[in-house]
Parts: sequence; structure tokens; C-alpha cells
Amino acid sequence: MERIFKEPIYVTRPLLPSIKDVQGRLEEVWEKRWVTNNGPQHSELEKILNDYLQTEVSLFSNGTLALILGLKALNLSGEVITTPFTFPATTHALHWNNLDPVFCDINSEDLNINPDKIEDLITEKTSAILGVHVFGNPCNVEKIEQIAKKYNLRVIYDGAHAFGAKINGTPITHFGDITMFSFHATKLFNTIEGGAITFTDRRIGDQLSLLKNFGLSDPVTVQLPGINAKMNEIQAGIGLEVFKLIERERENRKYIKDLYQKYLNDIPGIRIVTNHNNEESSYQYFVIEINEEVYGKTRDWVHKELEKYNVFSRRYFYPLCSEFDWYKEYPSAQKENLPVANKIIKQVLSLPFYGDIEVNQVIGICDLLRDFYNS
Ligand SMILES: Cc1ncc(COP(=O)(O)O)c(C=O)c1O
Repeated sequence: MERIFKEPIYVTRPLLPSIKDVQGRLEEVWEKRWVTNNGPQHSELEKILNDYLQTEVSLFSNGTLALILGLKALNLSGEVITTPFTFPATTHALHWNNLDPVFCDINSEDLNINPDKIEDLITEKTSAILGVHVFGNPCNVEKIEQIAKKYNLRVIYDGAHAFGAKINGTPITHFGDITMFSFHATKLFNTIEGGAITFTDRRIGDQLSLLKNFGLSDPVTVQLPGINAKMNEIQAGIGLEVFKLIERERENRKYIKDLYQKYLNDIPGIRIVTNHNNEESSYQYFVIEINEEVYGKTRDWVHKELEKYNVFSRRYFYPLCSEFDWYKEYPSAQKENLPVANKIIKQVLSLPFYGDIEVNQVIGICDLLRDFYNS
């Protein structure tokens, strides 16, 4: 056990600005006494993200509410085709809209919804396709768009992991009707808690403004039964400071990813889940797949064994959303309909990944994974 790390190495660490910079932002809020409801820092963040994501942006208190209200703004009904390999929030957002999820199997390469399996699942009740850019690697947006056009379906992307991802240089926000982002503390760009919907149709933006603010269009006019999902000034102020750090963080993560790749590349039974060459990843997570038959150990064994060395990886995502009580009775949720997802769910493991993880920590984790294979 001489390889044991002195300090625990967690799967992620929040990217935080200096406390001095945060203090400056707080002082501004205190001075103006404008703490929520479209304050100046909220407007500034919205504008910066507009430019960065090259599309219209509406900010929210978190990504889950953003997705719930984004779906609501599209006025969908019936069934929505989606992936079971995602965080519970994706499927729950459908449930909160009284929409039935129809689970579609995933690709074994990028672990995103498999567009070749979508058409078979379309019925007269289908109103939309909800894809997830899993781990920040984009879905096959071209094929999804073709299918959506053919059957007149809406397309929604859960881009919780995909801030800054691009396809052939085009931001992923340019695909689908709307894209949701999460700005949770675990995300590369964070506002501690927070989220956004990007859209191109101004009418969707207007609906979102009403939906996230009780349906109020002015202090005495309630246009629809909305909810409270607004981002406040302190979240926005922190976001403005975090935003200044993200390019450097991405560069650092790129370096860490390359390092992991270099040291893991030749270990039999380990595959690195990564983006295609024409795509730019968001560098949100570093994920491997462990093939038990080749590697000789299960993913669960590796996950537990790493803990003995003070390394905290994450079985992300686990379990599949199609296994939850509320969804498991749907025909599409049955294991035989989701062979790839049911195999992958036992193999994926997120390794510690953040810009300031030390080089010797990354090499140490890779050495452990090599030792486990050889033992
Ligand atoms: C794929 C996916 N969708 C949705 C969410 C929910 O976002 P939030 O935590 O901002 O509500 C997450 C959170 O990590 C996620 O990973």
C-alpha cells in the first residue's frame, strides 16, 4: 500500500475565483441593493454568455428547473424519445411535464442516444427527442435533426456537461430547439448552483421569462401559472468571476486528459470515452470504460479498490434512469431493448479530473490501474 495518497483525491473540485474578487462583486450588490430579479450582474452574465455561446440565453437558478421549464415552453405532449444513460434530472424533467419517456439505446462509442434506433420508437404520440451530450461529447446532431424534420418533432438537448463544446467549429447551441446547461459547482463553468436555456426563437425566450417568474409580465399581470426559477445577483456575480477562469481551466484539463491518455492507453481492457476528431469537447469529465473480461477486474471492484488508496472515482451515471420505479414498467425500459446501455452502465468510471490536479497524482492513479490489471 505504499502508493496510498496522503490527501483524498476527489472526482472533481469546484473552479472557484479568489475570495477578493467575489467580495468585489458582493460589494457591488450591497451598494445597489439589487439582489435578484434581473439585476445588473445578471444582465452582464447573460450578455457574456450570449456572446460566448453565440445564441440567446435565459438564466435559471439551476439546470433541472431550466430543463423543466424549457420543455414546458415548447408545449409538448405525449411521448419524448430520450436516453436512459443520463443523470436522473433529464428523465425527471419529462415526468414533471407529464410527458412519457421512451427510452432509446445508446451508441457504444460516444455513449449518446443512438439515432439509428430512434425511428423505430416513433408513434403518433411522439412530440420530441431529448438527447444528452453525455460527458460533454456531442450527440450525432445531424442525424437527429434529419429524423426530427421528417417526423415534425421538436429537439431538446440536455447540455449540462457540454458548456463550450463544438462540432466542426459550430457551438452545440446551434442545434435543436433549445439546449440546457447546468452551472452546478461540479461543472467547469459554475455559478455554484445555476443553469441556462439557449434558444433561437424569441417566443421561447418570452415564455421562459414568464415561466421562471411566476408568470408575471408586470407586477399586476399574471399570464400563466409560472414558478420561481430565477438566478439571483450573487450567483450571477460569482459566474462573472468564474467565467474569467474557464479558458485557462480548459487548457489545464486538456493537458490532464492527454496525460491520462498517455499513461492508460496500453492497459488492456481500459477504453477512454472521448469525442470524435471533428468535435471540441467541453472537458467536463474524464471517463473510462472497464471491460471485465479483458481487464480481469470489474468496474465496481476498481471503484472500491481505488478508495483504499484515497482515490474517489464515480460510477457516473449509475443506475440507468430506465431502472427507476417510476419508469421501469415502460416497454422501452426493458433490458432487452437497451442492450448497450445495460452493458455500459456496469463499465463506466469517472476518474478525478480538474485543472489543478497534480501531475504525479494523475500518474499515480494510472499506475494503480496498471497494477490492478497485473495483479
Ligand atoms: C446530464 C445532466 N442533466 C441535468 C443535470 C441537472 O443539473 P443541475 O444540477 O444544475 O440541476 C445534471 C447535473 O449534474 C446532469 O449531469
